[in-house]
Amino acid sequence: MIPKETISSIFEASRIDEVVGEFVSLKKRGTNLIGLCPFHNEKTPSFNVSPVKGIYKCFGCGKAGNSVNFIMEHEQMNYPEALRWLAKKYNIPIEEEEQTPEQVIANNERESLYVVCSFAQKNFTENLWETDEGKSVGLSYFHQRGLTDEIIHKFQLGYSFDKWRGFSDAALKAGHKLEYLVKAGLTISKEAAENTPSGPPEQDRFFDRFSARIIFPVHNVSGRVIAFGGRTLKTDKKVAKYINSPETDIYHKSKVLYGLYFSKKKIVEEDNCFLVEGYTDVTSMHQAGIENVVASSGTALTVDQIRLIRRYTNNITIMYDGDSAGIKASFRGIDLVLEEGMNVRVLLFPDGEDPDSYSKKVSNTEFKAFIKENTKDFLAFKAQLLYNESAHDPIKKAGLIKELVESISLIPEPIYRSVYIKECSRIMDVDEQALLSELNKLRRKKQYDKPADKQESSSYETPEELLTFPEGEKVVQKIGVTETEHQEKDIIRILLNFGNDKLTIDNELEDGTKEPVEVSVTALVVHEIHGDLEFEVPVYKKLFEEFVLHEGEGLSSNYFTQHPDPEISATAIEILTSPHSLANWEKHNIPVITEAMLLKQSVLHAVYALKLRKLEKLIHDNQKRLQESSGYEEQVILVTMQKLLIQSKQSFSKLLGRIVLR
Ligand code: CTP
Ligand code: MN
Repeated sequence: MIPKETISSIFEASRIDEVVGEFVSLKKRGTNLIGLCPFHNEKTPSFNVSPVKGIYKCFGCGKAGNSVNFIMEHEQMNYPEALRWLAKKYNIPIEEEEQTPEQVIANNERESLYVVCSFAQKNFTENLWETDEGKSVGLSYFHQRGLTDEIIHKFQLGYSFDKWRGFSDAALKAGHKLEYLVKAGLTISKEAAENTPSGPPEQDRFFDRFSARIIFPVHNVSGRVIAFGGRTLKTDKKVAKYINSPETDIYHKSKVLYGLYFSKKKIVEEDNCFLVEGYTDVTSMHQAGIENVVASSGTALTVDQIRLIRRYTNNITIMYDGDSAGIKASFRGIDLVLEEGMNVRVLLFPDGEDPDSYSKKVSNTEFKAFIKENTKDFLAFKAQLLYNESAHDPIKKAGLIKELVESISLIPEPIYRSVYIKECSRIMDVDEQALLSELNKLRRKKQYDKPADKQESSSYETPEELLTFPEGEKVVQKIGVTETEHQEKDIIRILLNFGNDKLTIDNELEDGTKEPVEVSVTALVVHEIHGDLEFEVPVYKKLFEEFVLHEGEGLSSNYFTQHPDPEISATAIEILTSPHSLANWEKHNIPVITEAMLLKQSVLHAVYALKLRKLEKLIHDNQKRLQESSGYEEQVILVTMQKLLIQSKQSFSKLLGRIVLR
């Protein structure tokens, strides 16, 4: 644990231009700096760094953040790791706060597992290159399959001896503890099952998980070995072709992709990721010069794996074996990717071939040409596959269309949905309108199936509608819960951008005369809202409380973008770099009339809008009580209150209407 004060000094010391400058070559442009974005492939620079604000923002891919975010994203580190990186750069000593004994144990254990895995990888690699058995059995097998030494080295491939306890004995001899060998999944212990005084004799109590196999180490994104896959050299069908590490404290299968560490750079550069099934597909594709490739390694593709890829690109090309009986099951993979808002393309290999075997059969140039010519958009792929089955059968054809529309309905972006619907209508030769109505039906159903708190809120009825009572259940269902999220965000946006600007307002004196006074935007907003109503979105509430606490201190937005609470800094950066604030970036010289010129109106508008929304919520709650109440007197009170609330709502609406808006 890094103490809070140290975190603050790290933030204070870190200069965004220096931090980014370690990785990106930056040129001055006005008060900002500009360079090629390290997070996506581009030829003209759109990556902006603002030393004044202490943040970066890419106008190409939208990534934005402060120094800590940059290191996290660029170096694939977590929050404490990034802080340590910066502390080292700026020579800030970190005195760790004391960890609980449990934390110490957990950290040490994980570290021990990494150490054991690293030892195992070196041991297996040494076996392969330095021993007679390794060379004659393992290495010759790799060579026979056409792998070059360069690739074997790159992926740190290895060999495990044909012995009961080859690895375990070597590890114990090197001083590693049996406990960790077992926890890392490298050694299998019989002790757990047969831990009795008369159990098996010492020499039989444990044995290697991997023996007589070629070894594929599995790396995490930062390149540490966390697991292994071992392929048998036997052709005997009774022997499992692959044995893999079990789940451990450092290896969670569903969150790991084989090859990602070696491919991530190219995935970003190419802005596409090939997804294959096996270890050998990854190594062979690299050998063929295609380095943006990962494997799900035998498990069905998971949402976590897709999100892992999305950190680097929005485009996935899934490669399938031609003979795969699981092609239809693969549709599930496509749908999962679509649902994450990513673009999917599909490539089917000829019957009986996988990327590994096919890349060995043809030249690298032919292989690349094959990929280029045969990669299909998911819609065309699915349509074509199913079309043959249903060509002359109208019922089957209808079923197929429905399946296509179901996939399309999963795409979160409305624009993409509509493009695909057009495409589907063209391919299947059906009316677009019919497809659209089917699509809407599916999306409504999906919305309906969501838990209540995830449903989009519907808007309010007019006051007249609200006052007609009691109309029974139907009315209650029509009214959604009003969120104040947008209004709260707008207030924070104004405070972050213009909090220190001055406004002139009329101050009413005791004798009724008015006197102009100058106040800061923050002072005015705090005065209007604080104590009157509460923010509902927790992070906006946190931010607003900071403004209340430091009102009058003239804090700059840096206080928020460099805030040690990552939630506060992330939100501040997001708001400050959103399109609304684009005018602040010199690159985008937009409107002549800026929000700053209409500041007073903007501020009042934001405050009234929030109050209005709150009132609407009160009206809604009151209406609900009205419909649930049964006593006549109670109803009279509630109706009176409702009228009052609606009156004030109307006066606020008028007030709001009088403010001339942008
Ligand atoms: N796999 C596994 N256990 C098995 C079979 C397969 O874990 N018993 C996983 C492996 O990660 C393997 C992937 O599924 O790489 C794909 O399986 P398969 O196509 O059968 O193997 P290949 O990778 O093609 O291996 P090879 O070319 O050596 O046959
Ligand atoms: Mn294969």
